[in-house]
Amino acid sequence: MEINLTAEQSGIVKRAIVIGATSGIGRGLAEILVKNGYMVGITGRRTERLEEFKSQYPEACFIKTFDIRETDVIAGRLEELITELGGLDLLVISSGTGDFSANLEFKIEKNTIDTNVSGFTCVADYVFSYFEKQHAGHLVAITSVAGIRGGRFAPSYNATKAYQINYLEGLRQRAKHLKTPIYVTDIRPGFVDTAMAKGEGLFWISSVEKAAGQIFRAIISRRAVAYITKRWSIIGFVLRLLPRFIYDKM
Ligand SMILES: NC(=O)c1ccc[n+]([C@@H]2O[C@H](COP(=O)([O-])OP(=O)(O)OC[C@H]3O[C@@H](n4cnc5c(N)ncnc54)[C@H](OP(=O)(O)O)[C@@H]3O)[C@@H](O)[C@H]2O)c1
Repeated sequence: MEINLTAEQSGIVKRAIVIGATSGIGRGLAEILVKNGYMVGITGRRTERLEEFKSQYPEACFIKTFDIRETDVIAGRLEELITELGGLDLLVISSGTGDFSANLEFKIEKNTIDTNVSGFTCVADYVFSYFEKQHAGHLVAITSVAGIRGGRFAPSYNATKAYQINYLEGLRQRAKHLKTPIYVTDIRPGFVDTAMAKGEGLFWISSVEKAAGQIFRAIISRRAVAYITKRWSIIGFVLRLLPRFIYDKM
């Protein structure tokens, strides 16, 4: 999907990193960024997928393989990628995981926490500090509507998404107090047609292309919070208002 906004119109300079761009939303967004003139650094664990993307856009793309759970390597990898890009204006955290945990297996919960909390925080802290030093930048993270309330099927998924939403709010407040043009965008998808959309009873499922297009527009508009697709804001609103005695029975 091509959206004809120049970097000048968008107000965003053209160097971006997408963490978790080997598939799904991250890949779709990386593609839109490249097609709109950005130099893009992409990451993930599956090197062959990163290389496949680079082979399509050799001039506009840099790749770096790393596991976001290995927090001691993150700073080094990001530094290398930023050097290769020649700077950084936008970083999107799309990496994430979550699994059903019918028996409350700690192994499952730990993997989710290591990815969605530790890895997320390590990347967010590194890049926010980088933006603080350069007095500008835009941090975007793909959280979830699931972060609004707890969830019995994958408790750590909902809880870690709630953490991300809260953490981003803290960083946004920090940016405001610094009086620096650093923007923080919280993208909350409902269901998007990727490997992460698991289970039965899914509805309002968006294609990756449609979701990535709406996310790109939210980035350009420097939105604080955006629901993807837009109508998921209704579900978000209802979830926030729903009394506990009703929610607990669902
Ligand atoms: N799809 C939905 O319905 C939905 C709804 C709400 C929110 N979200 C959120 O959207 C984000 C993107 O998910 P998706 O739907 O696009 O699913 P996806 O296709 O499975 O993409 C997940 C991405 O995260 C990366 N990732 C996962 N674990 C990683 C790790 N340990 N280290 C580095 N990268 C890792 C994956 O790369 P590698 O496997 O190559 O490492 C992949 O690029 C997630 O944060 C998810 O929670 C999705």
